[in-house]
Amino acid sequence: MAELEQSLDEAGLTNTAVREYVLHWAEFLGAERVEVVSAADDARLVRESLKAGEIEPAGEGVYYSRSYSKDTARSEERTIVATSRPQDEGVYNNWRHTDEIRPVVEGLMEGAMAGKTMYVIPYLMAPPGSPLERFAAGVELTDNRTVCLHMIRMARVGIDLINDLADPDMFVRAVHVTGDLPNLGQGTEEDQRYFVTVADERTILHFGSSYGGNALLGKIAHGLRQAAYDGWASGEFLGEQFMLLGITDKETGETHHVCGGFPSASGKTNLAMTLAPDALGERYHVSFYGDDIAWLWVGKDGHLYGLNPENGVFGVARDTNERTNPGALDSVGAGTRALFTNVAYNEDTHEVWWEGRTPSPPADATGWRDWKGELVADRGPDEQDEPWAHPNSRFTTTLANVPNVAGDFEDPRGVRIDAVIFGGRTRDREPLVRAITDLAEGVYDGLTLGAEATFAAEGVDGKLRYDPMSMRPFMSYPEGAYARHWLDVVGAASEQPLFAHVNWFQRDEEDGHFLWPGYRENLRALLWLVRLRKGEVTGRPTAVGILPREEELDLEGLDLPAADLERILTVDVERWREEMTHREEHLSQFPDLPEEIWAAHRRVAAALEHE
Ligand code: GDP
Ligand code: PGA
Ligand code: MN
Ligand code: MN
Repeated sequence: MAELEQSLDEAGLTNTAVREYVLHWAEFLGAERVEVVSAADDARLVRESLKAGEIEPAGEGVYYSRSYSKDTARSEERTIVATSRPQDEGVYNNWRHTDEIRPVVEGLMEGAMAGKTMYVIPYLMAPPGSPLERFAAGVELTDNRTVCLHMIRMARVGIDLINDLADPDMFVRAVHVTGDLPNLGQGTEEDQRYFVTVADERTILHFGSSYGGNALLGKIAHGLRQAAYDGWASGEFLGEQFMLLGITDKETGETHHVCGGFPSASGKTNLAMTLAPDALGERYHVSFYGDDIAWLWVGKDGHLYGLNPENGVFGVARDTNERTNPGALDSVGAGTRALFTNVAYNEDTHEVWWEGRTPSPPADATGWRDWKGELVADRGPDEQDEPWAHPNSRFTTTLANVPNVAGDFEDPRGVRIDAVIFGGRTRDREPLVRAITDLAEGVYDGLTLGAEATFAAEGVDGKLRYDPMSMRPFMSYPEGAYARHWLDVVGAASEQPLFAHVNWFQRDEEDGHFLWPGYRENLRALLWLVRLRKGEVTGRPTAVGILPREEELDLEGLDLPAADLERILTVDVERWREEMTHREEHLSQFPDLPEEIWAAHRRVAAALEHE
């Protein structure tokens, strides 16, 4: 104990509440030593990790790591929100009483760091000085050095950030224990993993994974689940799985800010990093604020504001290339200190590769190992078609590396929000873009977001499901209260944002091709929204929102088959009428859904009957 205290002294950790927390857990977990981590330790930690073989070099100042093969995505089934308030049980939050679940996960954690170093990672989600700063502080404890490297890239990390908190006790207690990964029964009846957020105690207890979404506790567990709960409990803000970007018209100098939610692996990172298509680049510039989380609140001046609490990008590698996302490639280039996880790796040349990086894999397989660590050259005839990289393989890099990062991305005041969009992978029904001007109808639209689930979560790829506001895996309190909170927060703004639903993923019924080219071209749909907001276009009113008239979309330099364009600008009324019965069932699961939401549902249903 005295030795531990001494190491905290040496590190300069003065916040006594944090010290108590660290000492308590160091003892409980049986850690052999404690090391407090700051961003300035990165170079040393990288050296140590390279030496220990936990990461490998992947070009100059770029690194590679592989996670255990059954630990490559978030586990939704094993994720639990616990509180001591039974009324916090919702449909999606997998609620358990703290008294029941805490002993289970603590039982697994007890003594689990024997012989190991416990790293202490003090962090801030949100730039220092933001109006939401008191919800932003946290201290992650972990036995995993690679987690430290990721946290340093994804969050603001340093002792100074938590030594002088306004309320020294107001920090999230975030405990991560990797566990014996080959022996946790992942996906079986005997699954021992537990990812628990004790939301009313602001405590996170995650056991049994080293994958980013489960192990970087500042990101999803704190930045989304805990923040959503805090925002509701305090009445002050919304914590959402949203990207956040700015669109500047260089002719007028005006910038509009758009935020929005798409389920994991459905295009948030790509949209926020999108450089304008060549034909429009001279006039418009897209600036990146965030790609996965936004906190929204109404400022003292009455405007709706948003900020990205993160300090980095944890992006899907698949299909990232010079055409789809050149900015992403730049952000992981030489000298960026970026980290790749579970892509394919060449141990001779230290190159990395993933599906869609180039049209076909490197012709010479010498030295290449797939995401499981197996030599590609040793593959049998029936294994030839297996992907080299895991579909959920990722890159991790800091915001400052992103070429189109906004000049004011660290401004703690956040930015004014002009539009909120929802979207996802929907192969039919959803047009390219439909705008919604009414608040309740916008919130209703978010709550009825239905899309295909993806490989970013275990075992759900391709399944069509409702994913309210893309928050289904991160919902921490009941959906009825969530809808109420949305209406209250956004309703308090002096000017409502424009809502919209977008879909880049509609497919041809016959050959399955995407009807819209997507990626950089998506800006065209957003530009139409901005023009609608400014009253420069009127669009075409339909039962489900305002759609662009063909001539209102800027399609310069884009060669799109006329039939495809017509399809994505049309509302399939029959299909939508069917959808309304599913929506009714979906919304009926939520008791206490505000009457405004039901009224919006009835308005849309009635309008569809009259189409
Ligand atoms: P996020 O997880 O929501 O941030 O999604 P990403 O932006 O990382 O994208 C997930 C996957 O969808 C990647 O493989 C992308 O290449 C792909 N993707 C992103 N945007 C588009 C698009 O507009 N069209 C198509 N077809 N694919 C896209
Ligand atoms: P994503 O972020 O939404 O970019 O996939 C990670 C996650 O949500 O698991
Ligand atoms: Mn996400
Ligand atoms: Mn992303």
